Amino acid sequence: MTQIFAHRGYAAVFSENTMGAFVEAEKAGADGLELDVQLTKDDEIVVIHDEKVNRTTDGSGYVKDFLFKDIRKLNASKKGVKKEPIPSLNEVLDWMQTNNLVCNIELKNDLIPYKGMEERVIQLVRNYGMTDRIIISSFNHYSVVYSYQLAPEIETAPLFNERIFMPWVYAQSIRAKGMHPKYSRISDKIIKSTMENGIAVRPYTVNKDADLHRFFNIRCSAIITDEPVKALNIRKQYTQG
Ligand code: G3P
Ligand code: CA
Repeated sequence: MTQIFAHRGYAAVFSENTMGAFVEAEKAGADGLELDVQLTKDDEIVVIHDEKVNRTTDGSGYVKDFLFKDIRKLNASKKGVKKEPIPSLNEVLDWMQTNNLVCNIELKNDLIPYKGMEERVIQLVRNYGMTDRIIISSFNHYSVVYSYQLAPEIETAPLFNERIFMPWVYAQSIRAKGMHPKYSRISDKIIKSTMENGIAVRPYTVNKDADLHRFFNIRCSAIITDEPVKALNIRKQYTQG
């Protein structure tokens, strides 16, 4: 069965990368979450997509220039009425002890090469005993490889925007057990060949009905979506009987 990963939480309805969006995705019945991490000035791992806080909070400036205690004062709840802080990864993993979700942690270190990010994320995941529930991905494939070297027990998955030739060969060469392609840049044939070669394929960000049908129909390993409720409803048609 194709797994459903809620992209930045249930981001179609709730404020992206907030505890509210993660809790609602879990309540809806998603199999997993996708979230993005950056590092503060004092090396706390925080869950936010952009290098700057401007788009998703009421503050301004680079995440890397904030102390954790100061970034926590910002409101990340742009869609909600209730104020919500930027979560720490620690907070998310702590909450994950209450459920069975899988979590895809995307290291946002392709623009700013945060020193020590991989070590910090892996240490935290190990402290919570959650290595089998985490997938580390990144557009920075050097970081994907480094994460594997530090923690071979944690699944890694490179992110792709481009059409890679025989992506399973590349994934195998860097010991990644998954790959996360842009959904519109990969054919059904390549997805099937990749899965037949033992590599999980989780396209992003699949929101439209027709695209959701496409990936459920070919039994793709997982999809990453802002619309977990819609995806769960459509998936029912493929799992009945
Ligand atoms: O992890 C899949 C997807 O989230 C990658 O792109 O920009 O939404 O982080 P972006
Ligand atoms: Ca992401």
